[in-house]
Amino acid sequence: MDIRIYGDESRLNGDAADIVGEALRGGPASAIGLCTGMTPVGLYRELVRRRAKGEISFADATVCNLDEYIGLTPDDPNGFRAFMRKRLLDEVDLPPERFFIPDGSAPDPEDECRRFDAVLDGIGRRRLQVVGIGGNGHVGFNEPDDSLPYGTRVVRLSDRTVQTNAAYFDPPDRIPRRAITMGIGSILDADRLLLIALGKEKAEAVAGALAGPITARLPGSLLRLHPRLTVLLDREAASLLPERLKADAGLARAIRPRIEDGFDETSRQ
Ligand code: GLP
Repeated sequence: MDIRIYGDESRLNGDAADIVGEALRGGPASAIGLCTGMTPVGLYRELVRRRAKGEISFADATVCNLDEYIGLTPDDPNGFRAFMRKRLLDEVDLPPERFFIPDGSAPDPEDECRRFDAVLDGIGRRRLQVVGIGGNGHVGFNEPDDSLPYGTRVVRLSDRTVQTNAAYFDPPDRIPRRAITMGIGSILDADRLLLIALGKEKAEAVAGALAGPITARLPGSLLRLHPRLTVLLDREAASLLPERLKADAGLARAIRPRIEDGFDETSRQ
């Protein structure tokens, strides 16, 4: 696990964009997984900026997203498809037919889960999956539970998640109580995971996920099962981490310049 802690959010977003850029350059038909929420907005802004300057391209990429509310039409401005279009996809050169997200308006959500699993199988190896974390530790919409199945599934959102996310809904009381989410197993299938967390509201979930027991009761902790997990945190989100992990983060920062000199990043994980 590579944990990096930042005082400056623009540096964090720059490093996150470097990681996405590396995945995009991974070869033809590079598939990457992205997520929604306020956390990746700065990253997406940076990707749009780099695309405009010709530094990166999505022309050969495939992008899939984690989740969608059930009951929203694909063009509903509150939906995650609309979010991705507005924050990223309308501004970059990804062919629209190579963007995949569960369809919350499908007549049978269970069928839609199987269709999305087939999409994930079809797009093949995902070089990177970017995720955020909810205040209760959820990833995608995998809410804390006794066990978490591998594949895409229908979930009932917790009261806390509904309350938090209602702030971004117009009108807030229209927020659906159910969603379709990629399963934790499929998230872990990506070659590399990038977890980003910002703000003190995430500090408890981040500390539990990175330093507590690995348990479906805190889905973020399951990310530690991945051999190649990079975690980018601002100081507030990192504030409850035990000192030993903060020390590791300091070490990672100290050796990072060597990566730019051609140091093979995979060899230190
Ligand atoms: C949402 C999304 C997650 C996201 C999380 C945190 O409900 N389903 O993918 O990571 O909540 O959102 P934010 O980044 O706005 O804090």
